[in-house]
Amino acid sequence: MPLVTTTNMFEKSMKEGFAIGAFNINNMEIIQGIVDAASENNSPVILQVSSSAIKYARMPYLLKMVEAAVETTNIPIALHLDHGPDFETCKECIDAGFTSVMIDGSKYNFEENVELTKEVVGYAHPRGVVVEAELGKLAGIEDDVNVSAEDSMYTDPNQAKEFVERTGCDSLAIAIGTSHGAYKFKGEAKLRFDILEEIKKKIPNTPIVLHGASTVIPELVEMCNKYGGEIPGAKGVPNDILKEAGRLGVSKINVDTDLRLAMTANIRKVFGEKPSEFDPRKYLGVARDSVKDVVSYKIANVFCSNNKA
Ligand code: G3H
Ligand code: 13P
Ligand code: ZN
Repeated sequence: MPLVTTTNMFEKSMKEGFAIGAFNINNMEIIQGIVDAASENNSPVILQVSSSAIKYARMPYLLKMVEAAVETTNIPIALHLDHGPDFETCKECIDAGFTSVMIDGSKYNFEENVELTKEVVGYAHPRGVVVEAELGKLAGIEDDVNVSAEDSMYTDPNQAKEFVERTGCDSLAIAIGTSHGAYKFKGEAKLRFDILEEIKKKIPNTPIVLHGASTVIPELVEMCNKYGGEIPGAKGVPNDILKEAGRLGVSKINVDTDLRLAMTANIRKVFGEKPSEFDPRKYLGVARDSVKDVVSYKIANVFCSNNKA
């Protein structure tokens, strides 16, 4: 099956109340781990690439590896640009055969974000490519903002409606309390589901995207730290909250940090327990298996038990 857009995945997701997993890729082991897991669960999957991942892995390598994944499986796979910083990067990915791009205009003011998103939609749609846009700002706990500043960073439901109508974007990433990386919450993990519900009321037919949605799996954090890592106090979004997000209308859940942690924890363990090992396949193979385990668990237990391709 050739690469697909996210359109059908999201339609099904909105009808049935579950999210599709979108996983960040950088190298062969990550791609194989994700795709093997999705394939074994017969689940659609979104492979997403950031501009720094493109810089790292190089576009032709990424494209060929994703092509290999598509050729060797039977599940719907979408190839998506994550956090496209500008029109040129979106154009490069659309021209290269991506089926979905994100234009991240969240760093701009509302009007500039609208204009930039419209420009990308204008290029993408005639070429059969769908566009994810972002409204609102994802804060990190290190940003230490006060409550009213924090409120102004969340996505405004009225603005969301105007934004989608004016830009024609296909899906919308919103800010309801998640943040990127391993440190998402100081105390209890909490998302503003009231804002999500308001947004869904205003734009019921627009698929909603949740960035910064890694669980920061405690066992993996512990394992990293046990084998010499230093990531104390890391905390993410628990699985039951992610499940509820899917039920309330989130269609795409982005996961990168959990894969990074899985690989690093397992590579550290090999290095810690077998200091004489120096065959990269021995630790990269274990890392690949760990990515597969994380993705498989998420697909089977969190995103959907009924998300069959
Ligand atoms: O949201 C960001 C993703 O985790 C990608 O991160 O730009 O370091 O590849 P990156
Ligand atoms: P995490 O850092 O929570 O994995 O979020 C990844 C993400 O949002 C990619 O766009
Ligand atoms: Zn993100």
